[in-house]
Amino acid sequence: MDAALNETARALVAPGKGILAADESSGTIKKRFDSIGCDSTEDRRRAYREMLFTTKGAGDHISGVILFDETIRQSASDGRPLPKVLESVGIIPGIKVDKGAVKLAKSPDELVTDGLDGLRDRLIEYRGLGARFAKWRAVITIGPDIPSRLCIDVNAHALGRYAALCQDEGIVPIVEPEVLMDGDHTLERCYQVTCDALHRVFDELYDQRVEFEGMLLKPNMVVPGKDNRSYPAPPETVADATISCLRTTVPAAVPGVVFLSGGQGDEEATANLNAMNAKGPHPWQLSFSYGRALQHAALQAWKGSDANIGAGQAAYKHRAEMNGLAAAGKYSTDLEQAAS
Ligand code: 13P
Repeated sequence: MDAALNETARALVAPGKGILAADESSGTIKKRFDSIGCDSTEDRRRAYREMLFTTKGAGDHISGVILFDETIRQSASDGRPLPKVLESVGIIPGIKVDKGAVKLAKSPDELVTDGLDGLRDRLIEYRGLGARFAKWRAVITIGPDIPSRLCIDVNAHALGRYAALCQDEGIVPIVEPEVLMDGDHTLERCYQVTCDALHRVFDELYDQRVEFEGMLLKPNMVVPGKDNRSYPAPPETVADATISCLRTTVPAAVPGVVFLSGGQGDEEATANLNAMNAKGPHPWQLSFSYGRALQHAALQAWKGSDANIGAGQAAYKHRAEMNGLAAAGKYSTDLEQAAS
């Protein structure tokens, strides 16, 4: 076992801490900025991320931040590279290394993630820029006749290729097979597809010699589709289904599972994570690697203006704190209200 990879993986899921996914691609961050009426210029993107990364006390609840290629090369207003800003408060810089999901050949309604070409060289460069962990997101869509075996197989294979390359270059891979919430499918269908996808992913990781001790899994929670009438399911139900799925698919050697929020509401994502940890202990740490559920309130408070940096930071700090409590199973809606 590679002790350094294991140490980084464990630090990322230290008790009461989780990850901020701030790795929105140029297209995605533009959509987020459009929602607050802010032009997505390089300067505004930099200012927004600097606001998050310089939030005082965030490091009490945030172990690592996933950056986008543009961001890992940017500097704060005081001239320090953004990865150094994070390191200075004990937060580990990470990097998104996939190149996004594209149409899967021979299955027009499904996606496969690009980005393996030249990946080793990019990992070496990112490591030099300060990245100690990475992320690759595969997308699995539920529909009447999908996902196909083809979609699950090719995405699992690419996740294996990516994870093995990361470990070769001293970077902890976060392996993210996301089963989307889009659609009207039941929780049972999400359970079945998520279990199937995770079984295939861990088969590939094993076949491709990935060390489970030096990686993290970033899955969706098991929930009904957004358009199903039982959405949102109670946190207890989500927790039971998700834990059951993980127990049958994820080796105990994996140090941690860090969930994506995937379009859940801010407090919904926190309550679901808390319900899982309240049922612990589990073989792995269960924590968060949220994008939207950590940033939504901060983005609304900031509105693209430097005058609102304090309000944006307060909103981000609050969600980081609530999710930190949920990672320890100590969150309650009373605490949520007491703080607001
Ligand atoms: P969400 O929490 O918004 O789903 O983002 C997490 C992420 O990194 C998706 O790749």
